[in-house]
This record gives sequence, structure tokens and C-alpha cells, in this order.
Amino acid sequence: MTFRATILTLYPEMFPGHLAVSLAGKALERGQWSLDTVQIRDFAQDRHRTVDDTPAGGGAGMVLKPDILAKAIDKVSEGDNRPRLLMSPRGKPLTQEKVRELAAGDGVVIVCGRFEGVDQRVIDARNLEEVSIGDYVLSGGEPAALTLLDAVVRILPGVMGNALSGTHESFENGLLEHPQYTRPQVFEGLEIPAVLTSGNHAAIEKWRLEEARKLTAERRPDLLPNKAK
Ligand code: ADE
Repeated sequence: MTFRATILTLYPEMFPGHLAVSLAGKALERGQWSLDTVQIRDFAQDRHRTVDDTPAGGGAGMVLKPDILAKAIDKVSEGDNRPRLLMSPRGKPLTQEKVRELAAGDGVVIVCGRFEGVDQRVIDARNLEEVSIGDYVLSGGEPAALTLLDAVVRILPGVMGNALSGTHESFENGLLEHPQYTRPQVFEGLEIPAVLTSGNHAAIEKWRLEEARKLTAERRPDLLPNKAK
């Protein structure tokens, strides 16, 4: 089964972007996942192909019109039960757990927001799930969609070269990843921690877990159990 991503955007030329190279690009070439873009503006009805309008109640910026976005969504969603996401700084924060859940499915439809926002009625009527990639504001949802797809595609079956390389990484055990080292043995007078070259695998695992816990406590105490935010 191929994971299918469909992106609704006013800037289809932003895709596949960085997903055309490296791991994701090779997987795309091999047909392990697919990417289609839909130009939202193609569903505008007037001469000027207008997609936005001023916010009801006043205020700065423009709002994406619900009727046009609904038409675009309906066109791509015929006989389709993929989750429909709306990239937005108001969304639920993206987590590795959510990434794993999406990667286990058939694919995803992603709406990229622009302007000040999207009319709330189309979010409700088409059941769009708002997703944020972090507490900062981008000028549009496109880089957020590329980021989400990067995270999903790399864990699709058969995409990562070394299947084990994903198992120790950050968040897979709820912790940030332990520090890594490689040759040379001495770099600018700094040695690789002796335990890592001891050959004692149990001691290495213990050291890595301790380091991961220390790092997580220091940088992301919110990830540790029993640490209420
Ligand atoms: N669009 C603008 N900012 C965003 C964010 N932080 N996450 C997802 N989509 C966005």
C-alpha cells in the first residue's frame, strides 16, 4: 500500500521542495509514497479568481473563503477517508506519536493556511484537524506541511535504510537521544567516553539511558513522567 499525500495550497510550486532529495526523494521515486498538489485558486469562480476576503468584524489581513476551500476539499476527498489536516499555529502540537499514527494510515490530505486564517465554518463542516509544528508563526502552512511529511515518510516501511536506526532516536522512548561519538578517539584533546569503547553492551545501554534522562531533565522536563507542566 502506498502512502498518499494530497496538498491543498495557493503555492503548489513549494512542493515537493526538500522532499525530492535524500531519503524521502528516493522513496518518492521508488513509489513508496506519492504526493499531489491542488491549487486552491482553481476553485475560485470570479474573473479575478479571488480566494480571500476581509475578516467579518474587522481587523487586519485576509481570510480564506469557505466556499472555495470546501470545493477543493470535496474534489480530492471523493471516496476517500484519509485524515484531513489544516496546518495552523492554532493547532494541536505535532508529536512523534501523531507522526507514527499518520504513517500507519493510507495517507493524508493537508490544507495549507495563508493570510490571517481560514473561515471557521469550513474547518468545522469539513472536519479539518488543525496541527501546529511549534509555537511560532510561519507565513503559511506549506513549510509546516513539508516538515510533517518529512517526519512521516522517513518512518514508512522500507524507507529508512537501516531499520534499526530509528529505534534509539529522540522521542521513541519518550526521552531525548543520548550523545553520540565516532572516531577519532581523541578530538582537540577530548576523548570518547571510555564506556562506549569498553565492549560492555549492558554498561553502554545503562550509560545511554542515564545520559538521555539527564539531557531530558535539563532541556525538556515536560517530557518526563510526574512532571506536571
Ligand atoms: N502556519 C503558520 N504557522 C504555523 C505553525 N507554527 N505550524 C503549522 N502551520 C503554521
